[in-house]
Amino acid sequence: MLRKTAVLVSLTALLVAPTMAFAQDDMVVMGDDIAEACPAPANLSGEIPVGALFTISGAASVYGSVQQAAVQMAVDQINEAGFLGDATINILFEDSASENEQAIAAMTKLVDEDAVVAVIGPTLSREAFSADPIAQEAGVVVLGVSNTASGITDMGDFVFRNSLPEASVIPGTVADTIAAAEITSAGLLYANDDDFTVSGFEVMADELANADVTIVGEETFATGDTDFNAQLTNLIGASPDAIFVSALAAEATPIIQQARALGFTGPIVGGNGFNSPAVLAQTGEDSNGLIVGAAWNGASPNELSNAFVEAFSEATGNPPDQFAAQAYTGAWLIASAIRCADSVDRTDIRDSLAALPEIDTPLGMFTFDEDRNPVHPSITQIAQDGFFVPLISEEVSSS
Ligand code: ALA
Repeated sequence: MLRKTAVLVSLTALLVAPTMAFAQDDMVVMGDDIAEACPAPANLSGEIPVGALFTISGAASVYGSVQQAAVQMAVDQINEAGFLGDATINILFEDSASENEQAIAAMTKLVDEDAVVAVIGPTLSREAFSADPIAQEAGVVVLGVSNTASGITDMGDFVFRNSLPEASVIPGTVADTIAAAEITSAGLLYANDDDFTVSGFEVMADELANADVTIVGEETFATGDTDFNAQLTNLIGASPDAIFVSALAAEATPIIQQARALGFTGPIVGGNGFNSPAVLAQTGEDSNGLIVGAAWNGASPNELSNAFVEAFSEATGNPPDQFAAQAYTGAWLIASAIRCADSVDRTDIRDSLAALPEIDTPLGMFTFDEDRNPVHPSITQIAQDGFFVPLISEEVSSS
């Protein structure tokens, strides 16, 4: 019996042969590395429930709406490719509405009522700090695809993320800004009531100090504020070469507009919250010269990234952003863990996700470190005429 099973598995593995296994209609998708590393599953069947918890509405919905579209696209590709053998993923979306309490309620529903085998999300770090302990307690993998605050995976061994934390991205952003714009002084502005924005501020302050950049002032605001003139007037009055800001998109937009209206023409430098095309669309020419650290840029010279850009643009009518790339990759990572586990047992999936080999993804070559944080390249971008492009020194200009 055992022998028969083994023969069947290896024959199936041969049939799902390596490199062209998931090219459909000349479309390249993630999955080939895992198809080689793990045989087609023999023990899976039916629909496998996987949760996806994003802020589809609410103040931070510019991130959640593209995350939903990207995960749906990945799941369609996974199911159409037969990546899980006889089984398919049944993706169950929930909306956290940018509210921590709503994230807790949605996570509880997914874990207890829907009996999902894993959850992708939630969008915001503060939502993750509220809701992930529910998944951890239940022994369900939760994979953050946009949480960038410090300490996310410290919540427990079922908590993973594929989103590079501020601590991994901002050092490069600061170094590239200094090299490109030759700044020697900076002002700092951040929301002091949000886990992600506080983390970003702390890394910015440390890195600027380490680089001997003079901090001319630090100013704070609260999430939901709309008028930043007082703080910006103080900072600009101290004549910084650049202003570093740690904020989510809803506040990033008026901060850019008001800084330019007050006459600041130097680089504004943002963290992960700025990394949305919505911020550029809403600020127009004011965003020229905006420098933003990122986990991914559409110009990444990688076949899977190019194919993802093409497929996402075709499916949604809009080019993807970093949040879409990370969400798409996250869905494939969960599917990869299920395939390699050949099981829907929640602990087997956790162990399988932790043990995935380094694989090619739209984010570049990707692996998890021993603390379940991502390891892959980051990039510094500059906004030019409504688009984020990779930063090279000649491109730095004032608004
Ligand atoms: N990167 C943002 C956060 O972690 C979305 O909250």
